[in-house]
Amino acid sequence: MSFAELWESLLPIGRDPGTGGYRRFSWTDADLRCRDWFRATAAARGLTVRADRAGNLWAWWDTTPGAGPAPRARAVVTGSHLDSVPGGGAFDGPLGVVSAFAAIDTLRERGFEPARPVAVVAFTEEEGARFGVACLGSRLLTGAISAAAARGLRDADGVSLAAAMAACGGEPDGPGPDEELPGQVAAFVELHIEQGRQLADLGAAIGIGEGIWPHGRWRFDFTGRADHAGTTALPDRRDPMLPFAATVLVARQVAARHGALSTFGKVRAVPGGVNAIPAGVRAWLDARALDDGSLRRVVEEITAAADRAAADHGVAAAVTRESFSPPVAFDPALRARLAAALAGRAIKAPALRTGAGHDAGVLAARIPTAMLFVRNPSGVSHAPQEHADAADCETGVAALAAVLEELAVA
Ligand code: HGY
Ligand code: MN
Ligand code: MN
Repeated sequence: MSFAELWESLLPIGRDPGTGGYRRFSWTDADLRCRDWFRATAAARGLTVRADRAGNLWAWWDTTPGAGPAPRARAVVTGSHLDSVPGGGAFDGPLGVVSAFAAIDTLRERGFEPARPVAVVAFTEEEGARFGVACLGSRLLTGAISAAAARGLRDADGVSLAAAMAACGGEPDGPGPDEELPGQVAAFVELHIEQGRQLADLGAAIGIGEGIWPHGRWRFDFTGRADHAGTTALPDRRDPMLPFAATVLVARQVAARHGALSTFGKVRAVPGGVNAIPAGVRAWLDARALDDGSLRRVVEEITAAADRAAADHGVAAAVTRESFSPPVAFDPALRARLAAALAGRAIKAPALRTGAGHDAGVLAARIPTAMLFVRNPSGVSHAPQEHADAADCETGVAALAAVLEELAVA
């Protein structure tokens, strides 16, 4: 099956026909259909699928003599995620999974027999769109989040992660780490669409990830007093929307001052009546910076501004960190091997540093890890307009096949 056919087979799942945006939250109907697609795609290739205790799916190509379905030591693994942000694009995540299967097809067509097990993985809840913690599946797998903390996570409707998984026939004992699996992986390479315009500006179809900025998510709760919009005099109000609005503007200024990024992309007014002053406003800050120190200062300054604005309006403010990803430098030796493999096939691949988070960043704490990026002409991501040209996707598959061949040859 060609890359294009494989790509098309996944495309309709979870897509809003009106906007063209995707909603593939973990452990929902769309996610289960993505999982069925993964299992069927693996089965069509004779790959053995297993789910780990975090619900991540692994499709194993193991040609070593006597190998059973259990993963063996020193595997080479590639893949990405199938979940999306609300209104997301088609490529963020799925491109890495589809390219992984297509790269295996390419290697088999060439008659390549890996000397190590090779696996395709689809990580669960990379976006943290349902349960709030980014890269939840890879964090659980590697123990970067405890099973107890993960079980306590709840979605917007109060459904726990454990209940959501159990309702989908997942882990009856609830999610947990896998003590052995990470130790069995010699290298992980994630292919991903670039979420910016660096490759377009450099005139290159493919890039090699160098590292990831530190980033995180903080929940801001402003608690005021509900009242009538038509009868409460302005001086008598304790309106939580006002300090929230002030905080949004300060967040932008603070980020600009530190060469950082800050975004309030999700907000809820409670109870949310047009003609009522809200009792509370809950909003989430996504902040990213070049280094830990800058990120810490950005969040401290925004928090201090929120406290001041809240006090000015007789409102209480509380800030809670929900997710944090430290800076990542991908494995230099593995990056050098990728660069050599691509140079050997005349694929130009400049090094890129990114502000976007990835499961590869989480795995990098335990496993030699690297990333390949595929050019995104507009740079747009987390939006329906996210796009990579077919020719660049094909180059991505060729690049990934070259890399897997290099890593699995001995
Ligand atoms: O939010 C992010 O950085 C991502 O694309 N997972
Ligand atoms: Mn994303
Ligand atoms: Mn992604």
